[in-house]
Amino acid sequence: MTDYVTVSRDGDVAIVTLDNPPVNSLSHHLREPLNAALVALRDDAAVKGVVLACAGRTFVAGADITEFGTPKATASPNLRELIVTLESFAKPTVAAIHGTAFGGGLELAMGCHFRVADPNAKFGLPEVKLGILPGAGGTVRLPRLIGPEKALKVIVSGNPIGAREALEEGLVEAIFESDLVANAVKFVREKAISGAPLIAVRDRQDRIAAAKADLTGFDAAAAELLKKSRGLDAPKRCVDAVRNAVTMPFDQALTTERKYFVDLVEGDQSKAQRHLFFAQREAAKVAGVGPDVKPRPVKRAGIIGAGTMGGGIAMSFLNGGIPVTILEMTQDALDRGTANMAKNYDISVKRGSLTEEAKAKRLGLLAGTTDYADLADCDLIIEAVFEEMAVKKEVFGKLDAIAKPGAILASNTSYLDVNEIAASTSRPSDVLGMHFFSPANVMKLLEIVRGEKTAPDVLATALDVAKRIAKVPVVVGVCHGFVGNRMLAARSAELEDLLLEGATPQQVDKVFTDFGWPMGPFAMGDLAGLDIGWRNRKSLGKTAAIGDALCEQGRFGQKTGKGYYIYEAGSRAPKPDPEVEALIEEKAREKGVNRRDISADEIAERTMYPMVNEGAKILEEGIAARSSDVDIVWINGYGFPVGKGGPMFWAELEGLGRIVERLEFWHGRTGKDVFAPAALLKRAASEGTGLSGARKGKAA
Ligand code: 3HC
Ligand code: NAI
Repeated sequence: MTDYVTVSRDGDVAIVTLDNPPVNSLSHHLREPLNAALVALRDDAAVKGVVLACAGRTFVAGADITEFGTPKATASPNLRELIVTLESFAKPTVAAIHGTAFGGGLELAMGCHFRVADPNAKFGLPEVKLGILPGAGGTVRLPRLIGPEKALKVIVSGNPIGAREALEEGLVEAIFESDLVANAVKFVREKAISGAPLIAVRDRQDRIAAAKADLTGFDAAAAELLKKSRGLDAPKRCVDAVRNAVTMPFDQALTTERKYFVDLVEGDQSKAQRHLFFAQREAAKVAGVGPDVKPRPVKRAGIIGAGTMGGGIAMSFLNGGIPVTILEMTQDALDRGTANMAKNYDISVKRGSLTEEAKAKRLGLLAGTTDYADLADCDLIIEAVFEEMAVKKEVFGKLDAIAKPGAILASNTSYLDVNEIAASTSRPSDVLGMHFFSPANVMKLLEIVRGEKTAPDVLATALDVAKRIAKVPVVVGVCHGFVGNRMLAARSAELEDLLLEGATPQQVDKVFTDFGWPMGPFAMGDLAGLDIGWRNRKSLGKTAAIGDALCEQGRFGQKTGKGYYIYEAGSRAPKPDPEVEALIEEKAREKGVNRRDISADEIAERTMYPMVNEGAKILEEGIAARSSDVDIVWINGYGFPVGKGGPMFWAELEGLGRIVERLEFWHGRTGKDVFAPAALLKRAASEGTGLSGARKGKAA
């Protein structure tokens, strides 16, 4: 017995309790005493049954991911050996599950004859989200318990199921409303007394028999699930492994699963996805906001502006169960905004992802107003009005007059100076930016913009609220466009010139989709509406020969059926348009540019390298605290392919030295600022420290 594993007795039943905080992951220091305890209990004739349970907030949440890539990951006893030990018991074993039985935790539980659970327990094999597949028999045992099609869904999606569903599907035998361990002891004792034959999960055939006879349904379900897997290897391997569980003998399927696991875990995609797992948790740790800084209570949120963003932000709060008062300038605008929200909920009801009851509950939390006085009881007020400093200041002035003391005042501005907005109030320490992404009820990212005077507990509140409304927060500093939009501008800077010099929209977009982005920048522009950028350019006195000419012809993108591409009636599929190519050639002639063949490599270098370079400048200025924060922004706000881990992680795989060299090449050739390598990038490349270890400039 060690601190990690204790064995106690209740008469002739032994209770093995694992205690490896915070989530009881299967670290080597736990596996060793666990195996020893299990072997002793197996061979102890006085023990008639065994309960496997966990201390703390959860059952085992998986293998210890921090061990991956180290000798500890495979050191004996490994998880597969532990499960073999469990399966060799001639007396009944039961896993008593509370919290989450995830990954290796569920695999361990499936090594027991039985599983019982607390009503709130969750069961899942989320390995796919780490770019791997269950590597200790999960793909072979789960189909034997819940059938191959259901198992496939659980394994390929990585999403957990709840206790009730687990009971219905046959993954657990009983749910106990209280006294889980005591009831598990009773359960296993009854099994021991009954003397009924014990069948290890590996020997179960009943749930896979139908698929063995005919795999048509399974293959169709797999093809459907894989549609969403965009360039990722792990989901495909999950499908292969579950299929093997049906077609191969148990041991062969197990060995094959292991081979897939080893291949995947050593690959770049899994490294990237594991990086993102820890990056997301790191992002929630903010300098100056330790556990002693308590968030302020937020019982009601106020939203100003019921336009595109205000409506989506309000829905996020309603979805998180937080009542909202939404304010508009006129009753008409308010009615339009709330009708849009109701329409969005209706779409979810039609798709089956929301019930009528849940919709009514959410809308029941919404109040609308045109009177600022109605925001007086709000604990957090988020402004989402037009992107103009004068308008923002006017709104914050009004808020300052009516908001209760201690209320937090946030702006959803995309670009404007949050310090200037804060200074227009008498309480700048209560002001910050909360920058949501469109559509705000769907996109996970929330850039929390820390102003010079923002109080630590105001930041803590924004982080807490983000969790409550299921957003992924990243704290950033004040600058034009913050992290995401500032890097997006750098990524887009060369797009017009690439077209003028010889590329076509479809050629550029293909480089992006081949890379793994869901869409290229021109198709994206057509989707978002080209008129937005056009109006913005006009207000800033800027021009873009091709983009402006398209808008002058009324080609605003999908909404007008034409943009950089042409769209057939009712279709969202972009088709190359010879008229656009002719327009590009005409503009090139006007500017005296000789068009030439542009390679895919050149397109990638002139778009993605400046994006990385801007990220390095952002780090150098301390606008983002860590390079992994930048990755989280791009993964959750801009569709950067998860298998590449975010722009900064990808840059290191690509080679910082190569990026610096090519930036210098393009800088020499064009003299454009966007290519001037950031000092931090150069240092990280030459000192070999990587971006996370690179010394900051002034801030260091
Ligand atoms: N290994 C190592 N550390 C882990 C871990 C794991 N499997 N799971 C969580 N942690 C760490 C987190 O990094 C975090 O550390 P920190 O406090 O230093 O930042 C801490 O535990 C708490 O985690 P969360 O902040 O995520 O806590 P929550 O309460 O919000 O969530 C959870 C708990 C639902 C269990 C969530 O942590 C989770 O989903 N964990 C990962 C589960 C998983 O992916 N399991 C599969 C692992 S791979 C595997 O099992 C391979 C096998 O098939 C061979
Ligand atoms: P929008 O034009 O769709 O909505 C703005 C709404 O604010 C309108 O309904 C308008 O009637 C209302 N409004 C204007 N002045 C007001 C006032 N003084 N009091 C009350 N209501 C007022 O604009 P959108 O796109 O929702 O943008 C809002 C803010 O969100 C801007 O700051 C924008 O930069 C930012 N943002 C926009 C994103 C987008 O993709 N559209 C993404 C992230 C941030």
